[in-house]
Amino acid sequence: MKKKTFKDIDVAGKRVFVRVDFNVPQDDSGKITDDTRIRAALPTINYLVKQNAKVILCSHLGRPKGVFNDKYSLAPVAERLSELMNMPVKMAKDVIGTSAKTMTSEMKEGEIVILENVRFHAEEEENNEVFAKELASLADVFVNDAFGTAHRAHASTAGIAKHIPAVAGFLMDSEVVALSNAVENAEKPLVVILGGAKVSDKINVILKLMSKANTLLIGGAMANTFLVAKGYNIGFSKYEEDRIEVAKEIMEEAEKLNVKLVLPVDVVGGSEFSPTAKRKNFDVENIGSNYQALDIGKKTRKLFAKEIKNAKTVIWNGPMGVFEFKKFRKGTLAVAKAVAKSGAVSIVGGGDSVAAIQELGFANKVTHLSTGGGATLKFLEGATLPGVAMLEDKDSEKKKVKTPDFASVDKKTLEKPAAKKAASAKKPTVKSSKTKTTKK
Ligand code: 3PG
Repeated sequence: MKKKTFKDIDVAGKRVFVRVDFNVPQDDSGKITDDTRIRAALPTINYLVKQNAKVILCSHLGRPKGVFNDKYSLAPVAERLSELMNMPVKMAKDVIGTSAKTMTSEMKEGEIVILENVRFHAEEEENNEVFAKELASLADVFVNDAFGTAHRAHASTAGIAKHIPAVAGFLMDSEVVALSNAVENAEKPLVVILGGAKVSDKINVILKLMSKANTLLIGGAMANTFLVAKGYNIGFSKYEEDRIEVAKEIMEEAEKLNVKLVLPVDVVGGSEFSPTAKRKNFDVENIGSNYQALDIGKKTRKLFAKEIKNAKTVIWNGPMGVFEFKKFRKGTLAVAKAVAKSGAVSIVGGGDSVAAIQELGFANKVTHLSTGGGATLKFLEGATLPGVAMLEDKDSEKKKVKTPDFASVDKKTLEKPAAKKAASAKKPTVKSSKTKTTKK
């Protein structure tokens, strides 16, 4: 079902509550180390500003568990956004408190106010009805542009949509369109590349995509469980003992469905799990007992690249090795290069895979870089994303009022945050920084 977008409604002069996903990585000093998610929201924000809307931005940052914590303040994000927009971004000291209420009610057309981290309220992750209503009271319209958080049924991603008209932003819309097309209308051969630490995280996505894919390339530590299932001795490499049977079933299923499932034939072993570990190459039949597989080997890189070259569509999620260790990132970079050079329609999701593409300067050679981690996987699994489901349908005149039961979709909403303390308290040009951020 197609969802209404911000272009389907009149936003001029209105207070527009935009849920964005500004959950960006930061270093120990709080400096943003990757602003992709902020840049990805710029088309929506720019459009709304140009339409003379009053733009109220809301996001989470990290997992502060319902308590105010300066470490998770959105102040650095407000500053970066101000630089990117080349205009002032005012920041409220709270989310639904006096500061937020005063600032949003005094806004002029075309202005931007960003609220403090919405997860400073435990009620956010609980999808608390009263809290959602309070958020809604700040605005006339809700635009959800937080694709990265669309798998969470939280107050600012789903609950709020019950109280004011709710539509998708540019990023949300483009993610949904790109990912749906890659799965449903993929030109064949479709090559799916999956990596990362655990098979358990990817079982559902493997099962879903196996019925569509021609080839499945598996790398990263998750490949180790398959290697064990095939009877190889893998030194002291990490694997999931309780997923060996699943790995066997996946391999059997691939055979039945005539899907070419390709596992590593060699690995780069490390003497320990450390960036300074000694490296040694091994064929998978002979992994040294004092080593653990930390990357795919040279032969595997070639093998994977050959499969990727033949693809007409590629979906890639997850690194081929320990990407954060420089010595063990060659496999991930090789896959990034092969995907970018393939000429195939390519969809890349997950932090490390996207980082590899960007590090090589290939972002413009990839059809779609997804801003979602968990959300992308959930979408590819075919799961209903609460942050999308709650938006108004394109062909409906009336607003949806029935709330789907997302408790089973999103276990996180059932987790009780540790403490409850309200904190009342394609790329735009980057112009010179003219920051006028009001910090708390
Ligand atoms: C993400 O980084 O995947 C999103 O921002 C969601 O964050 P969460 O896993 O803390 O809900």
